[in-house]
Amino acid sequence: MLNLLILASGRGSNFESISDHIELGILQNVRVGCLICNRPGALVVELARSRGVRVTEIGGIFGKKYSSSDERENARRQFEENCLYAVASDRIDLVVLAGFDQLLSREFVEHFPQRILNIHPAYDLVKYGGKNMVGQRIHKLVIENKEEYSGCTVHVVIPEVDQGPAVLKKRVKVLSCDTPETLEKRVLLREHLIYPEAIQLYADSRVKFDPSGACVVDFTSDSWEPEWNKRQSKYIQIHSEEMSEIFNES
Ligand code: GRF
Repeated sequence: MLNLLILASGRGSNFESISDHIELGILQNVRVGCLICNRPGALVVELARSRGVRVTEIGGIFGKKYSSSDERENARRQFEENCLYAVASDRIDLVVLAGFDQLLSREFVEHFPQRILNIHPAYDLVKYGGKNMVGQRIHKLVIENKEEYSGCTVHVVIPEVDQGPAVLKKRVKVLSCDTPETLEKRVLLREHLIYPEAIQLYADSRVKFDPSGACVVDFTSDSWEPEWNKRQSKYIQIHSEEMSEIFNES
């Protein structure tokens, strides 16, 4: 059983999709051991509690003013120590950042080598990744740059922001009528499909790393993907009205 620690900050739509996939039996041999939220009172807190998930609220550093970068880094370390303390008696197999708005220190990342995943709302992280590339800013830039495609990427977290190897990526066509809001909405629907898939690949030991650190997903010579697609069709069917937006786009 792959035990997840989810770190989240906001509305929790990715948490909800992961949780739905577990409840529907689509994600197999996966459980959410704990969710830590760095913004006490965020929507995700109640959502997770209502799903029976153990939740710990630990005030984070986002939006706070510090008199020096040392003070800020100390606060980050303190937050991370509190996180590790909260799960000290758990075996954490995978840390899943689900709308988590705080950067992690090198020490924290190295505590879980190749076992922290993030989802980013862009396909090309070289162009649309990095420290200030968050939220609507990404979609606005994608539209301004007249990109044919945007999308989303599940990647392994390394200390360098958004530079870790991609586990799964999915393209989303940019439409001529798109605004940052409409594009964001379709990208988010794709996120809700690929994040659970990436987690299942971990649970099935299909995610490997070559000596250069690149991620090699083992889809070879078997029925893993068709079986996953078949299971996930249940989720797509339940959400068919919203999902029609991404399946009818091209
Ligand atoms: C998404 O845009 C995701 O790409 C980014 O945070 C947002 C997730 O929000 N990492 P949530 O899961 O609805 O809280």
